[in-house]
Amino acid sequence: MHPDGEKILLTEEQLELQVAELGRRISQDYAGKEILVVGILKGAMVFLADLVRKITVPTYFDFISVSSYGSSTKSSGVVRILKDLDRSITGRHVLIVEDIIDTGLTLNYLLENLSSRHPASIKLCALLDKPSRRLKPANINIDYCGFTIPDEFVVGYGLDYNERYRNLPYIMILSPKIYGGGKQNVTA
Ligand code: IMP
Ligand code: MG
Repeated sequence: MHPDGEKILLTEEQLELQVAELGRRISQDYAGKEILVVGILKGAMVFLADLVRKITVPTYFDFISVSSYGSSTKSSGVVRILKDLDRSITGRHVLIVEDIIDTGLTLNYLLENLSSRHPASIKLCALLDKPSRRLKPANINIDYCGFTIPDEFVVGYGLDYNERYRNLPYIMILSPKIYGGGKQNVTA
């Protein structure tokens, strides 16, 4: 394990099995339809790359980049679009792919924003869910969830701390001595 990690939470094997299962379920549910996968940069990138290769129905990609926290240690609820989608989603079957749902503020904003563009349908696929941290639980329904995890700061498989560790092939709990107990510069 990387020396900055406290413990491996999800191994490569666990991730691979669960991503394949999510892909199978999605392919079944969208049979006869085309999916527009909307990836949330940058955290969802690694998960998305593995997931789409397990989807057997015609799939298109687009990406959106948002900042969810700025530099404070607490979630502000202010979400800013840094890079919008390239194309219209009107009439498309949109599947949002996200790395982790934490407070839910990012997704709460994005679901509202993307719904207003009149897609044919909109669903959410998140690799990780930290339900104990949710601020607006009523508004977030995760249609496809990989793993429910405890309230620990995790990195790897796309997830970062100050842009580090995204390329680790597993997900580990970051040692608190690295982040000093606070969450800084957390971007999606
Ligand atoms: P939310 O708006 O609080 O749900 O924040 C979601 C975003 O915060 C995710 O897209 C992640 O980029 C980031 N985030 C939340 N928890 C973690 C974590 O444990 N590790 C790495 N990034 C996290
Ligand atoms: Mg991030």
